[in-house]
Amino acid sequence: MICAANWKLNKSPREAEAFLRDLRRNLSIDHHQEVIIFPSAICLMLTGEVLEGTDIGWGAQNCYFEKSGAFTGENSPEVLRELGATHCLVGHSERRSLFHETNSDCAKKVAAIQGAGMVPMLCVGETLEQREKGQTNSVIVQQLREGLQHVHLEKEFWLAYEPVWAIGTGKVATPAQANEAHLVLRNELTAVFGASKARTVPILYGGSVKPENAHELAQQPELDGFLIGGASLQLESLLKIHSEANR
Ligand code: 13P
Repeated sequence: MICAANWKLNKSPREAEAFLRDLRRNLSIDHHQEVIIFPSAICLMLTGEVLEGTDIGWGAQNCYFEKSGAFTGENSPEVLRELGATHCLVGHSERRSLFHETNSDCAKKVAAIQGAGMVPMLCVGETLEQREKGQTNSVIVQQLREGLQHVHLEKEFWLAYEPVWAIGTGKVATPAQANEAHLVLRNELTAVFGASKARTVPILYGGSVKPENAHELAQQPELDGFLIGGASLQLESLLKIHSEANR
């Protein structure tokens, strides 16, 4: 199982460095497991330095889709790649709701990230209102289709299913709900890109993943890993999720 830690806007460089040094000392990863840290952009450089020579991966939470130019405040995939990042999140629900990112922005970012030699992780998920109206499947399918509009099929990409109502709320999707949504995404990938490609795309679940629910969720056949927010901020709980997910 893949355990990805989305730190969002948490941890100063000093705090990040101390955490990552502890992580390095305490984490053991088998060959079929993966751990990836997504710190804030300002902590990326030190993350690369501290994790150098380990099997722990790391990436960015966001980037712009242009290489360079008059785009104040943005970072390009090329710059992130130069630092050593291997992955980049795209279209996290907080980016969509707070920073007005559209599916079309996501599509450009996915292609730009792949073009720079990194792996994009496109995040999709429905709001509570959409779920209650029975729109879950159509919402996530549309986010997938439009977000992957310009994807380079010969290159790697990942997906994360993060129901908005489960993010930071303590309300976790039931294992059955999560698996069902992942299956919808997998079937859509198969329909659009063919079965052999669809099988290779990891789909991570995110939304109140904790040490207590990680094992049961991890048993679901369509879950390839977790994208963990709050519970990834403490070393002990991240390590516990990693071991529960892989037990
Ligand atoms: P929480 O684990 O805090 O619910 O956050 C999930 C998330 O948004 C990960 O990207």
